[in-house]
Amino acid sequence: MTDKLFKLTDPETGKHSDLPVRVPTIGPPVAGVGSMYRDLGAFTYDPGYAATASCQSAVTYIDGEKGVLMYRGYPIEQLAEHSNFIEVAYLLLYGELPKPDQLERFDTTIRTHTMLNEALLRFFNGFHYDAHPMAMVTGVVASMSAFYHDSTNVSDPEHRDIFAHRMIAKIPTIAAAAYKHSVGQPFVYPRNELDYCGNLLNMFFAVPASNYEVDPVAAEALDMLFILHADHEQNCSTSTVRLAGSSGTNPYSAIAAGNAALWGPAHGGANEAVINMLETIGSVDQIPKFVNRAKDKSDPFRLMGFGHRVYKSYDPRASIIRGMAHRVLNNLGRTNTPLFDLALELEQIALKDDYFVEKNLYPNVDFYSGIIYRALGIPKSMFTVMFAIARTVGWVTHWREMLSDPEFRIGRPRQLYIGAEQRDYAALSER
Ligand code: CMC
Repeated sequence: MTDKLFKLTDPETGKHSDLPVRVPTIGPPVAGVGSMYRDLGAFTYDPGYAATASCQSAVTYIDGEKGVLMYRGYPIEQLAEHSNFIEVAYLLLYGELPKPDQLERFDTTIRTHTMLNEALLRFFNGFHYDAHPMAMVTGVVASMSAFYHDSTNVSDPEHRDIFAHRMIAKIPTIAAAAYKHSVGQPFVYPRNELDYCGNLLNMFFAVPASNYEVDPVAAEALDMLFILHADHEQNCSTSTVRLAGSSGTNPYSAIAAGNAALWGPAHGGANEAVINMLETIGSVDQIPKFVNRAKDKSDPFRLMGFGHRVYKSYDPRASIIRGMAHRVLNNLGRTNTPLFDLALELEQIALKDDYFVEKNLYPNVDFYSGIIYRALGIPKSMFTVMFAIARTVGWVTHWREMLSDPEFRIGRPRQLYIGAEQRDYAALSER
């Protein structure tokens, strides 16, 4: 808190409320509205939380005007260039870059928690072969609460750590099992000598009938995508994890809630929707037609992978991924890249269009990521699952942070009631 106060006055009654202002390390000041209801008898109203800080957090900072993203103070560009996903996971969870022995211990812990209980693995047989992988992953993550309920005391910091490690280690195994089930192939067990992304690719693409060698280009590309997707402060799925977790529920259930929120096309489901959109557009000459549709308010069509609640300039993750797409396609020897070419052209046309310029609509993280996933052989329906694997780190980090925050309380918003006033019940015969 600072001495500074914002003052709110009700012009009718003359009553006023002093709102204490808190100054963050960086970013705009935040007015505490906790006393407003007591002083003025009024709530704040902010659908979509566009101007509401739901918590204090020391994890991730975004400056949407300047296109800045930092994890624990480190710019995303530096982490993408110099770090790796496991190191970033440690950084997000524990707040500092690990020393060599800390990194080794953390890496070993994650590598040795990758297996699933066999009974959990059998759950996949209950799903229809064409179930959406996000539906399977959400269901199986929720089911983990049935396996680890008694051993997970959310008030015990050591238990919270074990949960965080288990969740990060097992989510690739769950994702790969969902994929193998959808293609009717036998499940491939994790191999602890492989690193995080190498192991994931092996569980996806190895089959008992032949040898599979992890392509280091593919593993490196995946690792960088995971760094970029690992956290994004109080986004829809992370806020969902916090809200679900705030009741003290089993944390695996809270992470399942995060998966459910991520799946939607306005959030993590956009990466799959972008590829569907590019396939529908089909060719460069069709782009103007679809750009016009995106501008037409009577048409529900939107340019998927465009726009962001916070970024009013280029999403820094999108520019890294666009540059990376060139390199990855090149390194994988792909010369015929019609979808990537179409995406580049669509971006150019949209960025020159007055509608997109006026509304500050730029490509977001999902616009180019699917191009890379596809080049790695990952099917469209798995794109959001890939996002979920990486974002699991952010979810568990925020869950841990919330529980150790002295200001933590159960999340319980109020509302602007617009329903009927009190009325008397009418018997069925009198209606
Ligand atoms: N295409 C066309 N118009 C758009 C788009 C778009 N992609 N995005 C926003 N607009 C327009 C919107 O119609 C509105 O116009 P007006 O002010 O005239 O009513 C204005 O821009 C502001 O949009 P909004 O929907 O009020 O903004 P929001 O902050 O509530 O929504 C968003 C943000 C990301 C949901 C939205 O931009 C969108 O639907 N984008 C497409 C889906 C997408 O790419 N989602 C991934 C988001 S980034 C990764 C992640 O979160 O997982």
